[in-house]
Amino acid sequence: MPATIVIGAQWGDEGKGRVADWLAAEADVVARYAGGDNAGHTVVVGEKVFKLHLVPSGILHDHVVCVLGNGMVVNPVNLLKEMDQIRAMGVDVSPERFIISSRAHLITPAHVALDSVSEKALGNQAIGTTLRGIGPAYMDKTGRKGIRAGQMLRVEDFAEALYNMIEQANVTLARQGGVTLDPKTVTLDYLDAASRLQPYIKDTTVYLNQQLQKGARVLCEGAQGTLLDIDHGDYPFVTSSSPTAGGAMTGLGIGPRYIDKVMGVGKCFSTRVGSGPMPTELEGELGNRLRGTGENHWDEFGTTTGRPRRCGWLDVVVLRYAAAVNGFTDLFLTKLDVLSGFEELKIAVAYKIDGQRYEYPPATLAELERAEAEYITLPGWSEDISRVKDKHDLPEATRAYVQKVAELCQTPISTISVGPERDQLIHF
Ligand code: IMP
Repeated sequence: MPATIVIGAQWGDEGKGRVADWLAAEADVVARYAGGDNAGHTVVVGEKVFKLHLVPSGILHDHVVCVLGNGMVVNPVNLLKEMDQIRAMGVDVSPERFIISSRAHLITPAHVALDSVSEKALGNQAIGTTLRGIGPAYMDKTGRKGIRAGQMLRVEDFAEALYNMIEQANVTLARQGGVTLDPKTVTLDYLDAASRLQPYIKDTTVYLNQQLQKGARVLCEGAQGTLLDIDHGDYPFVTSSSPTAGGAMTGLGIGPRYIDKVMGVGKCFSTRVGSGPMPTELEGELGNRLRGTGENHWDEFGTTTGRPRRCGWLDVVVLRYAAAVNGFTDLFLTKLDVLSGFEELKIAVAYKIDGQRYEYPPATLAELERAEAEYITLPGWSEDISRVKDKHDLPEATRAYVQKVAELCQTPISTISVGPERDQLIHF
């Protein structure tokens, strides 16, 4: 198994963190390839609950080396905070175990401020971003004026580039009614962060290729989800990177010949944070039941923003599309325990738009906004399945639900989870 990619099959928050944590036990290297601290992965290890935004969940396995790939955008100050937090929980985050690509782009306070003013300017058309500066940082990258992590190794050049970036951003911020920044304070803060991060910055492309040539097992950990992909998602209600399989190649600088497994992670119902179409969204009691109260850390409230997630029935139109875009070899279906107690369960199998039937999502927002879900109904189950270990001990209705989903998206379901803990999973 040279390399596996783990990818969210919906709108993010599918439970990829726990899946990556499980797969990391068998990996030598775990590498993130897209996004930044907009991601939020919750991993439960015994009594400890880790909320990770940037550091790959592989860090929780002592033998694993973790990589932040060139496709990412990294906020150095937030990264250091997260490193300090997990270090305080007893995890080794030394440069021998954690490497940042010299080609990854940096998020600065200018990007964070610009994210805010841009969302405000959009009014009720706002994307509902995580306000972490992700979009503006990728805009600077593609506009060829971003600052890369490797520049932190040459402090004078770095300070000058950062100072100039803040000054330029201030012009836009002032024009759009945002709060301007003091370039000197920002530069001093970032110089401090740079001096702490310098030992971690390496050419991760060379490192990963050397590891793969030696036969090391690399796990490429996706963030966000297929429907948030800049190309394949519900544009413009998407993030600014490529969380899909292709993004793993460009975001790490490795070739497809090393990949032998592309695992999709899908939740057994739909959730979405932020704006954008969601044809199976449920309001009222059913939606609230899927969401949970927020008392448990695995309830449907954003790990990064705390926002309640929109919830709805499983949408196989989305899963089928994600399986095609990413070429899933198999699916990991999460949170089956949450469906216990529903008398019946609905699954959207197609959309109806202007009288036409669609088995894959249409490309335009206007069409998607008119989409009506076509459902099939399956019997529910009442049993608590959270302690079941073997698929044969599951209620017949649970097995039938899983099999139906696999059949509808023509992708085998290899594993399901029935709770947030490491051992609450069942192989199919
Ligand atoms: P951004 O990535 O902060 O620019 O946000 C763009 C869209 O992606 C918004 O709808 C966010 O709610 C969504 N998003 C970004 N990261 C995540 C994530 O990790 N999980 C779920 N949604 C996300």
